[in-house]
Amino acid sequence: LLRPPVPRPLAGKRVLITAGPTHEPIDPVRYIANRSSGKQGFAIAAAAQAAGAEVILVSGPVDLGDPAGVTVKHVESARQMLEQVQASLPADIAIFAAAVADWRVANEGEQKLKKSSAGMPPLQLVENPDILATISKLTDKRPPLVIGFAAETEHLIDNAKSKLARKGCDWIVANDVSPATGVMGGDRNTVHLITRRDGEIAVDSWPVMTKEQVAIELVAHVAKSVTG
Ligand code: CTP
Ligand code: CA
Repeated sequence: LLRPPVPRPLAGKRVLITAGPTHEPIDPVRYIANRSSGKQGFAIAAAAQAAGAEVILVSGPVDLGDPAGVTVKHVESARQMLEQVQASLPADIAIFAAAVADWRVANEGEQKLKKSSAGMPPLQLVENPDILATISKLTDKRPPLVIGFAAETEHLIDNAKSKLARKGCDWIVANDVSPATGVMGGDRNTVHLITRRDGEIAVDSWPVMTKEQVAIELVAHVAKSVTG
């Protein structure tokens, strides 16, 4: 039987992807979370796998099945996500699609917090490690292509450009996550790919697409960039 060859432009490449929200414990029964579904990151993992890459997906708690042929490491908190990302290096390409919680509770309760006549328990927040910035700034094991996402509800392009500069990654996928867009949890996404090459910043605005189409398009850009 003769079949046309399947194009595998990422064959031999190792791609590391983060996806989903993180859960930050308050006490043994409660946590802080966000509305990320993990769909965009999982779609990118599936598209990279289909393009022939070896894919490692570090995912926060989601309601999605593991994509076929992908190594999935399930985590809950931002600190666990960072640990698994570091343990998964080296990689040729890293794509940080997770909606990592920016803060965790400093004084996590060892027991369930109880109501009391003394009033409500104060929740002291501390900042989580920035996984994207940490990996972008590595000197020894920095993946040659590091891609972040920028979830914004206003000043999308300007905020995304400053994130690109601040975090030291190579590309940023900017997306509007205002409630009216339905992006958080939904099946569609409107993104702008912001790339930096030799100090030149380019913005490529894509039409509204399904998260699967965004994933395929992003993987095609990655393949073009790494194979020349
Ligand atoms: N990110 C990360 N670790 C964090 C926070 C964010 O790896 N602790 C990554 C996300 O996965 C994404 C990018 O950084 O690729 C931008 O995340 P975003 O929440 O948009 O930006 P922040 O820098 O956290 O800024 P803010 O939420 O204040 O807009
Ligand atoms: Ca954030």
